[in-house]
Amino acid sequence: MSVDSGLQVRGLHKRYNNGVQALRGVDLSVGPGMYGLLGPNGAGKSSLMRTLATLQQPDAGSIYLDGVDVLADSDHLRRRLGYLPQQLGAYPGVSARDLLDRFAWLKGRTDSRQRRAEIEGLLAKVNLQDAAHRALATYSGGMLRRFGIAMALVGSPRLLIVDEPTAGLDPAERNRFHRVLADVAAESIVLLSTHIVEDVENLCSRLAVLAGGQILVEGSPQALLSAEQGRLWVASFGRGEALPPALHVAASPEGSRVIVYGERPADPRFMPHAPRLEDIYYLALAQAGEAADA
Ligand SMILES: Nc1ncnc2c1ncn2[C@@H]1O[C@H](COP(=O)(O)OP(=O)(O)OP(=O)(O)O)[C@@H](O)[C@H]1O
Ligand SMILES: [Mg+2]
Repeated sequence: MSVDSGLQVRGLHKRYNNGVQALRGVDLSVGPGMYGLLGPNGAGKSSLMRTLATLQQPDAGSIYLDGVDVLADSDHLRRRLGYLPQQLGAYPGVSARDLLDRFAWLKGRTDSRQRRAEIEGLLAKVNLQDAAHRALATYSGGMLRRFGIAMALVGSPRLLIVDEPTAGLDPAERNRFHRVLADVAAESIVLLSTHIVEDVENLCSRLAVLAGGQILVEGSPQALLSAEQGRLWVASFGRGEALPPALHVAASPEGSRVIVYGERPADPRFMPHAPRLEDIYYLALAQAGEAADA
């Protein structure tokens, strides 16, 4: 990807007034398609996304969108940005259609015919046409998420930033949400944060693991997986059995399924394990000395 296209982030630092250093030199190169930002609680995902959305200033570093310096010219990005924050605010007793209409007007969609056509298209995309007349206060969590994405898509943004959009969604809602995002990613840049590894596994062409305000690993899922081929091992242990030091452990009714990392485990019960993205995630955190559940 040329440095003049997509989102280019270099050396981003952010420290809050309370002394927390949330970003410690983040470099990121995001092209068209879906990019997954994976990290534990407190990793700095929302801090990075709010900074990219120009809702807060970094202390150091640069952000370029399609070759334009975002920190010098924030309007350029704001006109091309759709942002779905992690926390959705309280919703008024206004209908989805009316709120979208007002929002689109504020975004400069002053031609009412065009505005209505865009809004009906967005409502169809997120499958809320039948509920669009209802007050948002009556929406379920999944419906609110879908409404949030419709809001973020007003004006066909070049860059869509979605912060943990699938948290709290049931599997069907999550799938529906993924399909909408995949559609958008076919035409623009989508940056998605999550701590759910499966969100990234099937959806993202590239991903980064962020922890402690730093990018630990970055690449395509295939490249990250093949880099660790042959170094992961799995064995099952019964209840009450002592477990060896592990990369991660999955509990099961029978006992524990233990994944270890290394050239060859001493214990002959370990069998080769084909790397999965969750292993890559745990490995990145372990190598950085970060606890997965920090
Ligand atoms: N407005 C703020 N003021 C002070 N500290 C903050 C602020 N926002 C976040 N932090 C701190 O910065 C660090 C990174 O937080 P951030 O919300 O960016 O992480 P996150 O990866 O989004 O976590 P989560 O998965 O829980 O949403 C944390 O230590 C957090 O407590
Ligand atoms: Mg967050």
